[in-house]
Amino acid sequence: MSKRETEEFELRLKKHHDELRWLYMELYNNGSMFFELIGYLRKFYEERSASLKVIDRRKEADPNWYRRNDLVGMMLYIDNFGGTINGVREKLDYLQKSNVNYIHLMPFLDTVPERSDGGYAVKDFRKVQSNLGTMEDLEGLTNACHKKGIQVCMDFVMNHTSEDHEWAKRARQGDGEYMSRYFFFNNREIPDRYEQTVPQVFPTSAPGNFTWLPECGHYVMTTFYPYQWDLNYRNPRVFNEMMANFLYLANRGIDIIRLDAVPYIWKELGTSCRNLKQVHTIVRMMRMIGEIVCPSVLLLGEVVMEPSKVVPYFGTVEKPECHMLYNVTTMATTWHTVATKDTTLLREQLDKVFALPSQYVFLNYLRCHDDIGWGLDYASLRRFGMEERPHKAYLNDFFRGLRGLSTSRGELYNEDLITGDARLCGTTASLCGLQAALESGKPEEIDRAINAIVMLHAYMFMQSGIPVLYSGDEIGQCNDDSYHADKNKASDSRYLHRGKMDWEAAARAEVPGTCEHRIFSALSRLETIRAEEDAFSCDASAVTLDTGDQAILGIARCLKGEMLVGLFNFGDIDKTAKALHSTGSYQDLVTGETVDITAITIPAQGFRWLKRA
Ligand code: GLC
Repeated sequence: MSKRETEEFELRLKKHHDELRWLYMELYNNGSMFFELIGYLRKFYEERSASLKVIDRRKEADPNWYRRNDLVGMMLYIDNFGGTINGVREKLDYLQKSNVNYIHLMPFLDTVPERSDGGYAVKDFRKVQSNLGTMEDLEGLTNACHKKGIQVCMDFVMNHTSEDHEWAKRARQGDGEYMSRYFFFNNREIPDRYEQTVPQVFPTSAPGNFTWLPECGHYVMTTFYPYQWDLNYRNPRVFNEMMANFLYLANRGIDIIRLDAVPYIWKELGTSCRNLKQVHTIVRMMRMIGEIVCPSVLLLGEVVMEPSKVVPYFGTVEKPECHMLYNVTTMATTWHTVATKDTTLLREQLDKVFALPSQYVFLNYLRCHDDIGWGLDYASLRRFGMEERPHKAYLNDFFRGLRGLSTSRGELYNEDLITGDARLCGTTASLCGLQAALESGKPEEIDRAINAIVMLHAYMFMQSGIPVLYSGDEIGQCNDDSYHADKNKASDSRYLHRGKMDWEAAARAEVPGTCEHRIFSALSRLETIRAEEDAFSCDASAVTLDTGDQAILGIARCLKGEMLVGLFNFGDIDKTAKALHSTGSYQDLVTGETVDITAITIPAQGFRWLKRA
């Protein structure tokens, strides 16, 4: 290490050392393991490339870089999108054309295809799935992305390993050292006690939280699928090695590390084994470890929980944890609003999010690779006479096209035959009725579906945070039914919305008049406007507005005297927003026309983006 580097490392370490040591000792009370951890940090700092260190320094000097209004994300599967990592690299121009400057590469580390959970069962944290490429290819891709100003995000599946991971194999052979990295029990007593308080993640496709291993006569804890063995973070060896894996991946040029299923990583008898305080200790330590070794790397927490459980993962201003979190309740509430055409609950939800300190950055999205879990604020819905069970049933019916005029084409996910609970899958386009409309060929239905798709994106772009599109949504890609015929996928309906990118359809995005062109060009226009207007940045204050009509959502964003108003009609008929007590003339940012905001008509499934002149 050069003198400058040694100084840089020591300075960063000094800043965090005492707190890091304190938390580590609190959890593990093991000084020699702490010493080892610090050795790892030094090693990975030393190994980090000069070009990544330049990025580290640049972003350290500009810590708000990810809070601006010019970031647009897209999540994609490497195989579906480009075949291989190098194939994705060849498609970077398409991503740039789509205004995307942040890509989330869905899990690509080594896994066994028959036991993979979409790649969330990792066999080797330092090896890429051989059909997708190599670690060198990954470095080539991150490097090429950085040259084009694109940030790269990947999953760090830290709650569990695959049963095919080296540690799991040794544990299965009865090696105590490795068994202690998981949760092993030779009888049902403790597992049964856990089952009394721990809910089930996949009640239908993987019931229970433990799996019996006949060949070694033990149960092992498996919160997710039986082949995903929960790691035991009470063991400092697990923590140290997983931190080494985290830093190894960061050193491949990854900019954003998604902490998969992070609320689950600490287990305690008699609890739900979710969001325990030790989880926060670990995330806080990861934040400090990142700031010491690779300060440009952001932590994105995957916390699919109710809002009161999500926000603590930001930590505090003095002791931050994650840089970004998913805006999951807003996403689910959005689809509730699509079905009910009543924005009351969405407005309440947005008010809560908008009231949070502006340093909290949310990742906003309409759809992701997972199901929609219907985690709504039922206490609030009860005030309007809506009970959880029948309301969920209504939503699931609606999005399967079974209710009213709905033409959605969703499918149920993990329907619990005992409780009747179920979640939902489908692409944005299919949920918005485009699939059915294309089948019927009726132009007015196609228009309606396209309007809904564009309106939902316009609304998502108006929230505070980083919008992340789901690959294919930019051209209105519909469901992929072919998963039903694939034995490795058939039991997991999430594959319905994990289809291959249709490049022929993408080519039609260039052809005026096609559905693809209509959606792609509309989103492009919105993304361009968003990048140009500073009031879309996280620093703006945001509030919801009373529009005088429950079908119309109103959002205002304000920054340094500039004011933007968004009006979104979730209803099926044209409506006039009347209650906007604003004066002065406004300009429609999309059409350029000047409008009178005191009584403004919004077409069915339409929207307006307005700026105070
Ligand atoms: C996360 C992923 C999901 C996966 C689970 C288990 O929730 O988003 O796809 O099944 O973790 O790793």
